[in-house]
Amino acid sequence: MKESQPSAIFLKDYTVPPFLIDKTELTFELDEAVTIVTSRLHMRRNPASGKSTCPLVLDGGEEVKLVGVAMDDYPLPPEEYRISEDKLIITATADEFILTCETVIEPQNNTRLEGLYRSSSMFCTQCEAEGFRHITYYLDRPDVMSVFTTTIIADEARYPVMLSNGNEVERGKTDEGKTVVVWHDPFPKPAYLFALVAGDLAVKNDVFTTQSKRDIKLQIFTESHNIDKVDYAMEALKRSMRWDEQVYGREYDLDIFMIVAVDDFNMGAMENKGLNIFNSSCLLASPETTTDDSYLRVEAIVAHEYFHNWSGNRVTCRDWFQLSLKEGFTVFRDQTFSADMHSETVKRVEDVSFLKTAQFAEDAGPMAHPVRPASFIEIANFYTLTVYEKGAEIVRMIHTLLGAEKFRAGSDLYFERHDGQAVTCDDFLAAMEDASGVDLAQFKRWYSQAGTPIVTVTDTFDEETGTYRLTITQDTPPTPAQPTKLPLHIPVRVGLLDKQGQALSSELNGTTSEEHVLQLTDSEQVFEFSGLSACPVPSLLRGFSAPVKLRYDYSTSDLLLLMSADADGFNRWSAAQQLAVNELSGLIKQAIDGQAFALDSQLVEGFKVLLGDSSLDPAMVALILSLPSQAYLSELANPIYPAAIKEARQYLKTQLANALRGDFERVYHEHNVQGAYQATAKDIAHRSLKNMALSYWVETKEAGAQQAVFEQFQSSNNMTDQFSALSIAVTSQHDKASEMLAAFYDQWQTEPLVVNKWLMLSASQESDHALETVKGLMAHPAFDLKNPNKVRSVLGGFGQNVAGFHKEDGSGYHFLADQIILLNKRNPQIASRLCTPLTRWRKLQPELSLKMKTELERIMSEDLSKDVYEVISKSLA
Ligand code: ARG
Ligand code: ZN
Repeated sequence: MKESQPSAIFLKDYTVPPFLIDKTELTFELDEAVTIVTSRLHMRRNPASGKSTCPLVLDGGEEVKLVGVAMDDYPLPPEEYRISEDKLIITATADEFILTCETVIEPQNNTRLEGLYRSSSMFCTQCEAEGFRHITYYLDRPDVMSVFTTTIIADEARYPVMLSNGNEVERGKTDEGKTVVVWHDPFPKPAYLFALVAGDLAVKNDVFTTQSKRDIKLQIFTESHNIDKVDYAMEALKRSMRWDEQVYGREYDLDIFMIVAVDDFNMGAMENKGLNIFNSSCLLASPETTTDDSYLRVEAIVAHEYFHNWSGNRVTCRDWFQLSLKEGFTVFRDQTFSADMHSETVKRVEDVSFLKTAQFAEDAGPMAHPVRPASFIEIANFYTLTVYEKGAEIVRMIHTLLGAEKFRAGSDLYFERHDGQAVTCDDFLAAMEDASGVDLAQFKRWYSQAGTPIVTVTDTFDEETGTYRLTITQDTPPTPAQPTKLPLHIPVRVGLLDKQGQALSSELNGTTSEEHVLQLTDSEQVFEFSGLSACPVPSLLRGFSAPVKLRYDYSTSDLLLLMSADADGFNRWSAAQQLAVNELSGLIKQAIDGQAFALDSQLVEGFKVLLGDSSLDPAMVALILSLPSQAYLSELANPIYPAAIKEARQYLKTQLANALRGDFERVYHEHNVQGAYQATAKDIAHRSLKNMALSYWVETKEAGAQQAVFEQFQSSNNMTDQFSALSIAVTSQHDKASEMLAAFYDQWQTEPLVVNKWLMLSASQESDHALETVKGLMAHPAFDLKNPNKVRSVLGGFGQNVAGFHKEDGSGYHFLADQIILLNKRNPQIASRLCTPLTRWRKLQPELSLKMKTELERIMSEDLSKDVYEVISKSLA
C-alpha cells in the first residue's frame, strides 16, 4: 500500500480559475522516438477570481518532461518555477503574459491511452476528462476556454494525414523536408476537446448542405483496409445533422466535420470539436462483419458525438461534477433520434431494460452516486451509467413535465443564453423553468440524490361513487454518504383498462382522459379517478415515465391482460417481464432450496397468442419473448445465487420451448428475411424474432432445430444471422458448438472486430474448464493486452460465465483480480472498469461473497492507481 492515499475533491470547493488562457498555440514535432510539444499560452489573471497575487499552477503528468519554460519570451530561471506532484508552479507572474513551455513526451510508450498515444501506425489523442495534461502543462479544466491554433510537423511519407480541430489554414515544409500543417479552431474550447491525429489514412468524402444552405465538408478517416466499412456511419452522420436542425433547430458551425476510427480506445468515441475520434468498433460496419445491434450502436454513437457539438461543445460544463449536463442531455437526444429513425417502443424497451439491469445495480452498490456527484477521487470513474443513462432519464422526465413544445423552448433558451459558456446543471434547469413557467425546484433533487426510488402503489374502488383511488408512496434507500432521502418529484404516467382490456376514460383533478401524468411529490399521496363503472386494471408508469422501482401487486391475469391489450407498447413488454420475473423467482427459490423444479407456466398462453398474431411488430414480439437476463435477475436478487438463477432460467426456457415447439419452428421459418442485407427497422425486426424463435426451438433438442442452427451458421449472408446461430449453439450446448467456434475463427481471423466477438463468446462458454479456456484465449495470437476492446471481450465474456467466473473455489475471482493488478498501472481506466463485477460482492451468496472479498483485499494491498484505488476502497468501505 502507498504511504499516502489519493484524496477526494468536492463540488462544494469549486472556485473560478485564477488565470484565463485567451489563445493557445501548440506545435507538435511528431516522431517515433520522442515528440516535442511547444505551447504558447496567452494568459491573464481572471478578474472574476479576485486574486491578484497567487502563483500560476499548471496541470501536468509524470511522463511529461519539461525542457524549458519562458515568460514573454524570457527563459525563466530555475528558482522562479518548480514541479511538484505533476504540477508546474510559477511563483510570480504579470497580470497578462505569454507563457511558453517546451515539453517532451513518448506517445509510443503511452499505454494509458490518455493524452497523445499511438494506435496501430497512427498518432491520436484522447483528452477527456483530464488527458490534455499528459500532453503538456496547462489549466486542464473545462471552464478554461481558449482559441486553439495547432501546428503539426511530421514526416509526410509516414503521416500523410495530419489533423486537428477546426480548419486547415496553412501547409508547408521545414528546412529538413518535414511537412508542416497548421489548424485553427475559431471556437473557444476547453482542452478536453482538443484532438490531433496523424497517420497514413484513407478517407471517404461527402457533403452536407445545412438548413441555411452552407455546404459542410464531411470526412471519415480509417486505415485503408477499413475504408469500405464507413458508408453506414456517413449516412448516419447526415441523418443526425438533419435531425438536429429539425428537432432542436441546431445547425453545424464549422465548414468541415471529420471522424477518425482508431483501434485502441478506452471508451466508445469522443466529440472533439470538428474532429471526432471513434473506437473503430463504434464506427465501422458491413453486412458480413457487423450485427444488427452493432449497426444500431454505430448510428446512435455517431449521432451522440455529433449532437455534442451543441450539447457539450458550444455549451460545455463548468466542472466535471456537471458531466451529466452534457452527457445526460446528449444521451436523451441520441435516444430520441434512434427512436425517430426506427421504432420508439422498441428503442424504449431496450434502453429501459439496460437501465434497470446495469444502472439500478450501480445505484444499489458501493459506487452509487448522484447524477451530479458531490465528490470524486478520479473523474474517469464517473463516466457511469448513472451520469449517462439516469442523467438521460432526468432530461426525459423534464420533457414529460413540460411537454414537447415547452421543452423545445427551454432548450432554445439554454443554447441561446449559454452559447460559448461553461455552465452547470442548475443553469440547464433554470433555462427549462424560465422558458416554461414550470417549477422544477423539488425536481432538482434528482441531480443530488443517489439511489433508485421505490414507488409502491395500492388501490381501492368505491362501487357507490365509481371512484378509483391509487395510494402511492415513494422511498429512496440509503446510499454511501446519503443515509436519508427527501421525496422526489416523480411523473407517473397512468392509464386504466377494463377487464376486457379496453382503455377507460377517467377524470382526475377535473381532466378527463384515457391517460394521466400523476405528479408524485410527497412521500405518500392519494390520486382519485372518477367516472368509472367497475374496478379497472391500472397500467402504471407507462413508457417508464420515471427511473424507479415500481411495486404493485398485479395478479397473473392482470399481467396477461396488460401484456396482450395495453395501449402502451412499453407496458405490454413490462407486464410480460414482470410475469416472467414472478415465475423465475419461484424457480430460483426452488433451486436454492434444492427442490426439483415444478412450474405450470402462465407465460405459455400469452406467448402462444403473441406467436400467432401476425399484426404485431416482430421486434416487439422478440423483446417480449426474451426472458429476463441473468444480470437483471441478479440485480433483483438479494443475495444472488448465480447458479440457481442460471438453472431457473434454463428450466423456464426449456418448458416454454417444449410447450410451444411447433409455434417456434413455424415462426422461425416465417421470418426468414430473403435478399440482400439491410439494416432497416423492418428487416432487423424479422431477424430478431427469427433468431429468438430459433433460440427456443433448439432447447427442444429436436434434430431439426439442431440442424437449423448449423445450417444458418454456415449459409447466412450476414453477421447477424451467422453470429446468432453461433451464440445459440454455444448457449444451448449444441453438439457442434466447439467445432463452429473454431470454424468461425478460421473464417474471420483477419477481421479484428469479428475476432473480438469470437473472443467474447468463447470466454462465455460455460464449462468446468472455463478458466483454462480463458487463459488460453489470453495467450492466443489474436489477443492483445494493449487493446481495450480485446480485454473487454475476453474478461467481459468471462464475467458472464457462471460456471467459470463464479466457480466455488474462487478461482474465477482470483483470475480477474490478477488481470486488474496487471492492468492497474498500464491502463488505469480499463483496470478500474474491470473491477465492476467485484463491487457486487456484498450481495453474493455467503461462500462466494467471502471469496470475492478476499480478492478485493488482495488488490487493495497493491500500489494502486487512483482509478482502481477509488473503486476498490469504496467497495470495501
Ligand atoms: N465524452 C465522450 C462521450 O460521451 C466520452 C469520453 C470519455 N472518456 C474518458 N476517458 N472517460 O461521448
Ligand atoms: Zn457523450
